[in-house]
Amino acid sequence: MTVRRTLLGGMLGLALAASTSGFALAQEAVKIGLILPMTGPFASTGKQIDAAVKLFLAREGATHGGRKLEVILKDDAGNADATRRLAQELVVNEKVSVLAGFGLTPLAMATAQIATQAKVPEIVMAAATASITEASPYIVRTSFTLPQASEPMANWAAKNGIKKVFTVVTDYGPGIDAETSFANTFKEAGGTVESVRIPLRNPDFAPFLQRVSEAKPDALFVFVPSGVGAQFMKQFIERGLDKAGVKLIGTGDVVDDDILEGMGDVALGAITTHHYSAAHDSPANKAFVEAFQKANPGMRPNFMAVGGYDGMKLIAKALDATKGDASGDKLIAAMKGASWESVRGPVKIDPDTRDIIQNIYVRKTQKLGSELHNVEFETIKDVKDPVKARK
Ligand code: PHB
Repeated sequence: MTVRRTLLGGMLGLALAASTSGFALAQEAVKIGLILPMTGPFASTGKQIDAAVKLFLAREGATHGGRKLEVILKDDAGNADATRRLAQELVVNEKVSVLAGFGLTPLAMATAQIATQAKVPEIVMAAATASITEASPYIVRTSFTLPQASEPMANWAAKNGIKKVFTVVTDYGPGIDAETSFANTFKEAGGTVESVRIPLRNPDFAPFLQRVSEAKPDALFVFVPSGVGAQFMKQFIERGLDKAGVKLIGTGDVVDDDILEGMGDVALGAITTHHYSAAHDSPANKAFVEAFQKANPGMRPNFMAVGGYDGMKLIAKALDATKGDASGDKLIAAMKGASWESVRGPVKIDPDTRDIIQNIYVRKTQKLGSELHNVEFETIKDVKDPVKARK
């Protein structure tokens, strides 16, 4: 009798243990709510990241830390109210363990409070205003920050004979970051700067470019969000700024790999600084670009795709480290300080800021064979977000 009772008790205990940890967890998928602009003016960002997330699962497997990853894709069409509502639904109804995506700064910001309250990691794969990671201790970023890319551009310009710059940026978080960090660094190096800002929605660059043309600067520094570059380039050429000898410089967003081929020769000669080019010369990147293009005919991966791919890599690495425990605090702790070899080069999540530390490359837009590419010719290693590094 005693033996039987002990045995039964033991079995019950085992069953209970199994339902609250290891075994049961291993059965359940870890749900990732992926919120992206799949329609609307920023759909190119959504399509790039969605394609990259699918490629990650195909190339690196869907099971990590013993748990299967299940991605639930939602389209916010670039509207912050939709992002907030979708994030809420994904947390409450779908019980996602991770929120990811966020194609624009306002969309990442709209989700910060939900991430904090629910203790759910928010992986920012695209948005790049420096302050985003300060909006919640649950935000981790795999894209970049605009100051991280803009300061190296200012240093390069100052060292290469450029004295007078006109900055043209889109008038919201990342544009203001780009303008401020470029101008401060460039002025410190002895240069002069004038600035204009263009609206985010339905931008018409012509009147702003007219002002630049009249000011006759040595260079125009530009930030426009991914997807808008072709329109900007066209008007830059139409206004005759290239012929007037105004050099085009900027962060890499304007010569985005997704639309570069379609821009044609107008982009030739642009000098930009960024963390990723599809032409990055490494065996790992060649294999990535080839696999991406095979899975998505007619598309070239851009920096958004790489932010998405590495976002998945980070989630997978964190689950490996926690042995499949997907509770928010455990995942965030595992993500802090995580490092890996990305197709962009070596990367590390800064444990203090949850931003990504990475190389920034100076690139020139030129022909490689018959294709237009951003060819990297200088590397600034292991760049932290400079705004937070100074705090
Ligand atoms: C942003 O909204 O944070 C953003 C969007 C597109 C970019 C860079 C930043 O290319």
